[in-house]
Formats: sequence, structure tokens, C-alpha cells
Amino acid sequence: MSEKKTIADTTVLVTGGAGFIGSHTVVKLLESGYTVVVVDDLSNASEKVLDRIDQIVGDEASERLSFYRADVNDRAALEAVFDDCQIDRVIHFAGFKAVGESVQKPIEYYANNLGNTLTLLDVMREHGCKSIIFSSSATVYGDPDALPLTEQSTKKNATNPYGWTKWMIEQILTDVAKADPEWDVVLLRYFNPIGAHPSGLIGEDPKGIPNNLVPYVAQVAVGKRDAVHVFGNDYDTHDGTGVRDYIHVVDLAAGHVAALAWMNGRSGVEIFNLGTGTGSSVLDVIKAFSAACGKELPYVIEPRRAGDVTANYADCTKAREEMGWEAQYDLADMCRDSWNWQSHNPNGYED
Ligand code: UFG
Repeated sequence: MSEKKTIADTTVLVTGGAGFIGSHTVVKLLESGYTVVVVDDLSNASEKVLDRIDQIVGDEASERLSFYRADVNDRAALEAVFDDCQIDRVIHFAGFKAVGESVQKPIEYYANNLGNTLTLLDVMREHGCKSIIFSSSATVYGDPDALPLTEQSTKKNATNPYGWTKWMIEQILTDVAKADPEWDVVLLRYFNPIGAHPSGLIGEDPKGIPNNLVPYVAQVAVGKRDAVHVFGNDYDTHDGTGVRDYIHVVDLAAGHVAALAWMNGRSGVEIFNLGTGTGSSVLDVIKAFSAACGKELPYVIEPRRAGDVTANYADCTKAREEMGWEAQYDLADMCRDSWNWQSHNPNGYED
């Protein structure tokens, strides 16, 4: 069982805390009163994120933040962090996340994502810290038999190595908790996180050509790309384009804070979907973003993308009833905040 602690007395290690979801979660944790230790190797994030977090939360809260530039696979570095700081809980975001790249580089993806998790778990155990929230994904549901997806919906085969790493890490954590009842594990299955902090200071900063819809749409809006490529308009959905449950990253971040409060003093494994419960099509997103940026965004219809499912959206009843968490923002809010971030930072964190 995790030791019951007050927020003021709880130190949370956030791996990948300089990344897109990680940075928004760090802001929420600091605003909620937690002490936060970020471990990030900055392989897919900018050091500037840390200054921006300081700006958002202010001096008092930023004193509760410390940063270690390290790869979670680097056992010695991770042990040094656990020796320096009395870590009570861990939120594990660090990992490679590009679906297409994972198909090209399966060895790297399995080695990094599974390897860093195993190193982390072993070092945690060694230091008597057995509470972890894992950043999982709706990708574990594969092509759904029925919608909305509840936490009881069947896990299906993943369609790429990235998805398999999420699937396998869920299994690893479940086995760890089964073997040792002192472990306290929460698996958060995210639907499609988009948006940015309303301040416009932090947001998503993909390297190269964005793989995901909203970062691509945002680059079209800012004039960096010509038109949105819509992958398929012959799906069995209201307008033929793929449907997803887009969730504001600030809501997602709040879901982690709710999970921390919920898990305090518990043990075992629990799974929560984090979505809004509303499905939006690709064309719905383009329309909402066009409204947010004040111009019609051009798009072209392309063939379907391999591995994409027709539709998925979450049933979030469990998160609401158990943790008292519910998404607050709708698609218009998400597009407004994505646009605010993109228009103020057209090159992301680069000057
Ligand atoms: N799409 C386009 N054009 C693009 C990009 C995407 O039409 O340029 C479409 C896709 O076909 C899909 C929808 O937009 O219908 C959303 O695609 P994303 O790539 O934004 O997101 P996915 O649903 O494919 O994947 C996301 C995360 C994964 C995660 C998965 C969980 O990127 O990490 O949700 O369901 F595993």
C-alpha cells in the first residue's frame, strides 16, 4: 500500500516532464502544491520548457521544482536522483512515441520504452517507492468492437511497436503489482491529447513533419504547410473521416493530479480512461480550427493511413465516479489554445 501523505509532504518524480503532456502535468502538480522532480534527457524536448513552467507557476511554486537531465535508461543517473530526493510517487511519461517511426525502428522502441520502465521499477523498488502512474494509451483497445470504450473493453492487438510498448508496459506493471501487494499502480489510458496551456507559453512542439492531426493543422494555419491531408473519407462515420476523442492537454494534466489524490494510501492496479466521451471527425477538427484561427484551412482527401481505426471515444464514467475528474474543455477550446500556442510560437521552442 502506498503511504498516505499530504500534498505538501509529497514529492513526485515525473519522467519525461519536459515533454508535451509531462510539462502540462508538472504545471498542475506545482499549482496543486506538490514538490516535483523532473527527469528528462531532452531528446525530444527543449530545456526552455522549464523556464516557461517557472513563468506560469511563479516563484513560490517553481522553488518546488527540480530538474535532472538524464535518460531513464541510465541506471546510475536515476539512482543518484532517488538518492538526492525522497521520491514518494512516480508519473512515468518518458518514452519514444512516434507510431510510424516505431514500425521502422522496433528494436529501438522496445529497448527504450520497455528498458527504461524496467530500470525505473527496479530503482523504485530499491528505494522503497512503489507508487506509479503510467502514461498509457487508448491504442491498447485496437479496433474496438463497441463504443464508447470502457476500461473493461477488450485489449486488442496493437498495430505498431509503439502501441505494443504501451500494451506490454501495462502488463508488466500488472504483474509487478500482482507479485508484490505493496505496489500501487494507476494506468491512465489517454485518448487524443491536443491543445496547449492557455498562457501560450507551453504546447506541443513536434520535430519535422507532424504525424498527428492537430499539430499538422496548426502548421497549416500558421502558413508552414499548404494543406491538411485527410487520411480517408470512406469510413463508416458521420462524414466519412476518422473519429477520435480529442482531449485538452490541461484536462489530461488534471487527470494525473486527480489520480495522485485517488491513489494515496491504496494498493493494486487500477485503470482509468481519460477522454471527453465525445467523438470528432477529421473534418470537425479542421472546421473547429478554422473557426479558431479565423480562416478556412485548405485540405485534400488522401487514401486511408495504414493501421488507423474508424472511430474511438471513451466512456469516462469511472474517472468521474472514482476520482471526481471530468474534462472541462471542448473542441473549440482545444483549437483556440492550440492556435494561441502555435501563432505565438510558430517554430515551437526554437528561437
Ligand atoms: N489524420 C489525418 N491527417 C493527418 C494526421 C491524422 O487525416 O495528417 C487523421 C487520422 O487518420 C485519424 C485522426 O486524424 O483519423 C487522428 O490521427 P492522429 O495521428 O492525430 O492520432 P491517432 O488517433 O492516430 O493516434 C493517437 C496518438 C497515439 C495513440 C493513439 C491512441 O498519436 O500516440 O492516439 O488512440 F496511440
